[in-house]
Amino acid sequence: MSKHRIVVVGCGNISKAWIAYTLKRDDSSIVALVDMHLDHAEAAKAKYKLECPVYTDVREAIRKNEANLVFDLTIPEAHCAITTAAFEEGCNVFGEKPMASFMEEAVIMVKAAADSGRTYAIMQNRRYLKEMMAFRDLVQSGTVGPIGFVTSDFFLGLHNGGYRETMDNPLLLDMAIHTFDQSRFITGKDPVAVHCTTFNPAGSWFAGAAAAICTFEYEDGSCYSYRGCYSAEGAPTSWQSSWRVVGSKGTVIWDGRTAPYAEVVIPTEEIVHENKHKRITPELTWAGQEQHAGCLDDMFDALNKGHIPSTVCTDNIKSLAMLHGAIRSLKEGCKVRI
Ligand SMILES: NC(=O)c1ccc[n+]([C@@H]2O[C@H](COP(=O)([O-])OP(=O)(O)OC[C@H]3O[C@@H](n4cnc5c(N)ncnc54)[C@H](O)[C@@H]3O)[C@@H](O)[C@H]2O)c1
Repeated sequence: MSKHRIVVVGCGNISKAWIAYTLKRDDSSIVALVDMHLDHAEAAKAKYKLECPVYTDVREAIRKNEANLVFDLTIPEAHCAITTAAFEEGCNVFGEKPMASFMEEAVIMVKAAADSGRTYAIMQNRRYLKEMMAFRDLVQSGTVGPIGFVTSDFFLGLHNGGYRETMDNPLLLDMAIHTFDQSRFITGKDPVAVHCTTFNPAGSWFAGAAAAICTFEYEDGSCYSYRGCYSAEGAPTSWQSSWRVVGSKGTVIWDGRTAPYAEVVIPTEEIVHENKHKRITPELTWAGQEQHAGCLDDMFDALNKGHIPSTVCTDNIKSLAMLHGAIRSLKEGCKVRI
């Protein structure tokens, strides 16, 4: 019997990456597929030539197959019910982002994980890239001094239809969680306040607001400025966003595609109009798997070796708080505390 007996819940688009990854592990087996639309589970079963049964009810799937791990790949509105049921049935949960549609749900989910003594980790695949690791290390090495100003730009035209095109705030609720989580990963800082504006730019094919501008404030008075748009045609940024971190001695740049670099002041005794700078480009030394596979490796390592995964729910809820702080700011029309 495999060490990890997995029930996959939600057999839509993203389940492909999770199932394909799992089939390569020798310590895991998929023992059941669950979907509210049974034909989605049947389709995944056929595509991956699985022999497991399919269900519409997660508890039945866990009990009948002695599962100990649930992948929650359903839509955000369903995450709370699926994960809390899984914890009650004694399972660990690895789930897709965003953790929940509401902060109140996320609090319930974190408590349910703690009460059950199980691990709940959330997919934040954009942490797991060698360029991102080098960028984070460069920012946190102190090379540019204490951080004073962080900016990120995310501009893409997303045409994959589905539920995103009818959401009120598709960019914020679907994508910004990745960028907000990256900002915490890069800086090691959690914002304390946010002001958010959203709008639907000319030409947008989304019903809700495809664009957002958020200003986050840190306790020390420094700021993170987020700009994003899901309906921007032409000159796309990377899915990782384009980043600038300004410190007291220099700036770190990452375009989200190529290697990050820093430019730092070359000290001089002379009085100058503008300083000269030297460029520092770090080695890309991180050798782990990238994106979903990298995050899943971290999650499985946590179960196998007993460490805390980078995207554990108790940390991830702080990224979610940035998102729901932004939504609250929208509703209240002013800056709000996070
Ligand atoms: N990390 C990433 O890069 C990434 C990329 C895409 C999607 N996602 C996340 O993955 C999740 C799913 O997205 P998707 O694009 O695969 O959506 P999808 O609509 O393609 O698939 C969702 C599946 O869940 C099923 N489902 C919904 N509610 C359910 C319930 N209560 N019980 C059982 N099944 C249920 C649906 O029938 C569907 O088959 C979302 O949270 C999304 O944000 C993450």
